[in-house]
Amino acid sequence: MAHGAHGTHGHGHTNQNAHDHHSKDHDWGTMAEALEQRASVYAPQYTQIFEDLRGSLLKRTPKRIIDAGSGPGILTCRLAEAFPEAEAIAVDAAPALLERAEERARSKGLDGRVRTHLAELPDGLSDLGQADLVWLGQSLHHMGDQQAALSRLADSLTPGGMLVLLEGGLSTRFLPRDFGFGRPGLESRIEVVRDGWFNEMRDSLHGAKRETEDWPALLAAAGLRPAATRSYLIDLPAPPSPDARAHIADTLERSRSMLGEHLDAEDLAALDRLVDPDDELSVHRRDDVFVLGAQTVHFAVK
Ligand SMILES: C[S@@+](CC[C@H](N)C(=O)[O-])C[C@H]1O[C@@H](n2cnc3c(N)ncnc32)[C@H](O)[C@@H]1O
Repeated sequence: MAHGAHGTHGHGHTNQNAHDHHSKDHDWGTMAEALEQRASVYAPQYTQIFEDLRGSLLKRTPKRIIDAGSGPGILTCRLAEAFPEAEAIAVDAAPALLERAEERARSKGLDGRVRTHLAELPDGLSDLGQADLVWLGQSLHHMGDQQAALSRLADSLTPGGMLVLLEGGLSTRFLPRDFGFGRPGLESRIEVVRDGWFNEMRDSLHGAKRETEDWPALLAAAGLRPAATRSYLIDLPAPPSPDARAHIADTLERSRSMLGEHLDAEDLAALDRLVDPDDELSVHRRDDVFVLGAQTVHFAVK
């Protein structure tokens, strides 16, 4: 997920892809439900991005879309719905997620226009041909050499085509600063631990290369012309819908299992209470929890 705007999306398993058995990245094959749940809760944010694309940013209607690092294809399908003249290709390294993408496309009657392509990006693009829209939704930061990946993806664009890069923003918050027990400010401390995990995850990636995260500069170095950078709020105030509540509970549960060992005993005890469905002050029952965050999106043209 976008660093800065990412939630905690895994169980801390090692990645099972053959090339990076030392990776500390998520075991993506197990992440379908979490990614689907997140995309459904964040749907309004994506609606705004599509409106901006259609409204002023895109100078022509895309006929071919590549969703690079598509996961289970929620956004691939949404892109296909937003651009009914386009074929959309979900590209991912996790076969289990691409199967989900195919099921999803079938269930939405989009299987004529949505297809999948298994690839460990940035390799495996050459068989795909060109596209006039490349969507990179919180996937670039899971690739070791981000500049090389951007350059290869830029090569897949037709002249005048657009690359849409979702990276950066503000971490999503769910809890009041003081939620009535434990030491106030728990989410800030979880974020510090998550930043440490993120650094280790990046260092462990195949071909890991540190890059200053000046995304427009990286897009320009890939031969593209940065056209706009905008940040999109996700603001679902308390009390939460059942979907938002489930997302909050699952995200905190994952924080606990992935990062809990780095929290002190008081914070861990507070987190335990927050995720315990039997506790009346848990996020399963309280009405003062919310979803508030921001996703930054960089648009660049070939
Ligand atoms: C945070 S998820 C985002 C999924 C989707 N874009 C979304 O917004 O719901 C990152 C995705 O990137 C994929 N991924 C990570 N590294 C990859 C690589 N080198 N090649 C292809 N896919 C990759 C993972 O399998 C995972 O599905």
